[in-house]
Amino acid sequence: MERTFIAIKPDGVQRRLVGEIIRRFENKGFTLVGLKFLKVSRELAEAHYDVHKEKPFFSGLVEFITSGPVVAMVWEGDGVVAAARKLIGATNPLVAEPGTIRGDFGWNIGRNLIHGSDAIETAQREISLWFKDEELVHWQPHLMPWLHE
Ligand code: RTP
Ligand code: MG
Repeated sequence: MERTFIAIKPDGVQRRLVGEIIRRFENKGFTLVGLKFLKVSRELAEAHYDVHKEKPFFSGLVEFITSGPVVAMVWEGDGVVAAARKLIGATNPLVAEPGTIRGDFGWNIGRNLIHGSDAIETAQREISLWFKDEELVHWQPHLMPWLHE
């Protein structure tokens, strides 16, 4: 089953949006298989954003993501990687559609509340970076017959 890595960034935690964001993923019908609340180390932040290491915003991004606690999650479901990006909205919250998380709650690109893996391979890399295998929970979602034919 497809999985994606989602992180509620320090601004999402500070703004008390943890429940609201998790509610949106639960309402959509995706299955939570991993969850932790942590202060991100510089090492993990730099590894996570390695693809952006040459960008001018890299150091600010690492500074920000390590500045306060983050909620790290793994969600599962058919098509979850692309669907999560839809729920999250465009990178710049000013152009993110209303109804998306960034569109509803943000207006600055450096405070866009949430991270979501951008492709299946990225998701696999990020999940193994943030979670040990034994931290992911296999369970039977009894709602499934009502979500999926
Ligand atoms: P994310 O990785 O956090 O889910 O966001 P994304 O795919 O929508 O955007 P990405 O291009 O991967 O950029 C990662 C994060 O870097 C910050 N950023 N700042 N100042 C800027 O021009 C700029 N561009 C990107 C954003 O916080 C973005 O989420
Ligand atoms: Mg990205």
